[in-house]
Amino acid sequence: MTPVRTALVGCGKVGQIHATALAATPEAALVAVCDTDPARAGAFAARTGAKAYTDIGAMLRESGAEAVVIGTPHPLHAGAAVQAAKAGVHVLVEKPMAATLADCDAMLAAAAKTGVSLGVISQRRWYEPVRRVKAAVDAGKIGRPALGVFQMYSWRDPAYYQSDPWRGKWDSEGGGVLVNQSPHQLDLLLWLMGPAAEVSGYWANVNHPGVEVDDTAVATIRFRNGGLGAIVTSVAQKPGIYTKVHIHGTSGASVGVETDSGATFIAGVSGIAAPPVIDLWTIAGEEHLLPEFQAADRSAFTGVDGTIYYHALQIQDFMRAIREARPPLVTGQDGRAVVELFTAIYQSQRERSPIVLPL
Ligand SMILES: NC(=O)c1ccc[n+]([C@@H]2O[C@H](COP(=O)([O-])OP(=O)(O)OC[C@H]3O[C@@H](n4cnc5c(N)ncnc54)[C@H](O)[C@@H]3O)[C@@H](O)[C@H]2O)c1
Repeated sequence: MTPVRTALVGCGKVGQIHATALAATPEAALVAVCDTDPARAGAFAARTGAKAYTDIGAMLRESGAEAVVIGTPHPLHAGAAVQAAKAGVHVLVEKPMAATLADCDAMLAAAAKTGVSLGVISQRRWYEPVRRVKAAVDAGKIGRPALGVFQMYSWRDPAYYQSDPWRGKWDSEGGGVLVNQSPHQLDLLLWLMGPAAEVSGYWANVNHPGVEVDDTAVATIRFRNGGLGAIVTSVAQKPGIYTKVHIHGTSGASVGVETDSGATFIAGVSGIAAPPVIDLWTIAGEEHLLPEFQAADRSAFTGVDGTIYYHALQIQDFMRAIREARPPLVTGQDGRAVVELFTAIYQSQRERSPIVLPL
């Protein structure tokens, strides 16, 4: 296929991942990079050979980009995405899609109006153990998914929140553990269980006194398919322990994945501590496969840089989707469903009441 002329907006930590992943993706050609900080844009341009811009409008007018990949802080995703969509440029935006539903809706409306593709990064959908869990659920091997559980016991130190001025504040980040670290597994939970119908939740700040936002949250969900869900998510455990998504079915069988071991990696700062693995598999007659699956998961992860490789797979899907005129695997509506879920948890605590979806 003809490579999609692609521009990168945001030359920060996740921008480094995208620049490397784009270079490893023949379906994309990086033609421009944009950051409001000219030194960052210049450094990325020098490294990649793409043209540097500090203004997204100029970049959209001059670079001939057919797609943008957006890696700015989340409350700034919508501004860049709407501008690109209005210019007829496809948009792949980092998680969370935005910090508010109003931003998500502006992005979806702009994309619908010009007919461009809108995708949201959720690279863990490409992890081998996650794909195996998804295939088992889709094949009906656990019956109907009846109980979905997401648990994260991770850690972020004060230096993490001080590393960029936008982190850990309601106005410049829009939330804490629910908005920043949890969208990956919230997306997996919704992908495996289907849409949520009602949500109750609480959040707290357990041990980050210098930070305004949540470092811990719990929630219960009733899904549209009648299933139930539970969320415990935290970056207040030192050291980080693990992150898991487990799905239990009406047949009594359960499947699950440990997506992250220890603390979740920080882009450009830390690596992935251990390969993601299947950690639960009680499908009748297949129980003995668990050690084989774990060996395959570990071996698939050896030899790839997990912080880059799965981003590259999602970028590849997005670029092929453009050329094949089909939706990408993770759509704007999928991204919005994650924002709806964390918005409902905050709203539930504020109103001391369960929240009925859709919002
Ligand atoms: N998928 C993942 O695993 C993953 C990992 C890390 C971060 N992220 C997401 O990526 C986003 C950015 O995170 P980060 O850690 O890279 O932040 P960062 O602060 O390191 O980088 C953000 C960059 O955006 C630039 N910027 C700000 N406003 C801009 C504008 N209007 N136009 C162009 N550039 C602008 C900043 O100058 C900075 O260089 C967040 O939404 C975050 O949730 C995703």
